[in-house]
Amino acid sequence: MKILRKKAGAADNLRIPRHIAIIMDGNGRWAKKRGMPRTAGHAVGAETFRKIATYCKNIGVDYLTVYAFSTENWKRPAEEVAAIMSLLEKYLNEAIEKMEKDKIRLYIMGNMTPLSPKIKELAAHTAAISEKLSGFQVNLCLNYGGRDEIVRAAKRYAEEYKNGGAPELTEESFERYLYSNGIPDPDLVIRPSGEMRLSNFLIWQSAYSELYFTDALWPDFDEKELDRAITAFNRRERRFGGI
Ligand code: FPP
Repeated sequence: MKILRKKAGAADNLRIPRHIAIIMDGNGRWAKKRGMPRTAGHAVGAETFRKIATYCKNIGVDYLTVYAFSTENWKRPAEEVAAIMSLLEKYLNEAIEKMEKDKIRLYIMGNMTPLSPKIKELAAHTAAISEKLSGFQVNLCLNYGGRDEIVRAAKRYAEEYKNGGAPELTEESFERYLYSNGIPDPDLVIRPSGEMRLSNFLIWQSAYSELYFTDALWPDFDEKELDRAITAFNRRERRFGGI
């Protein structure tokens, strides 16, 4: 059983999950409701991400993992994909300026191969800065898919096995081949926008996570919504298969 820390603050007297993971869903619908292009919803969604990351850090969350772009999102219109990539580029550039001052570690999880050279370079830069820091960590899932992650891990293991250097295969040793190597499993997975599924997000890591769903669309998600999710989490009894 993981030890969850208590921290006074906005989420008063609540056990704060050590690791929160969020599927940032509902940007398109949020924009459509306002007669705006979907890309405007992503722009507001990116600001919501910034706000929620700051709040998580302030209340004592150690890890925040967000789903920014899935392996399936390439099926969207090229214009929308380009808009999301451009928001990510902008965010990574700004993060590089501020991470050291704000003490925020930032890692990208996902298959970087098809991403632009610019995003690859920014990701390498944020990882290098993060190496020097400790404390709050944000993981940005980018071109990420849970099944893809597991297949990639299996291939990496097989390669090592072939070369004679692989450890005995156990759940624990296998985890080292995942993008999430070294990161504790999420305690709480949040999905806004009324959808109740994981959509290939952290499917290995969320085996025992508490799931929380809300109808709020991601651009409308705020600190109060997160408090509600943490309050619900506090009511859950986590048994991890025991009694
Ligand atoms: C899901 O909403 C959202 C995405 C596929 C993209 C998320 C991207 C951002 C929030 C912007 C970039 C992120 C950062 C961290 C700077 P949807 O488009 O599927 O919404 P819908 O279900 O209402 O159509």
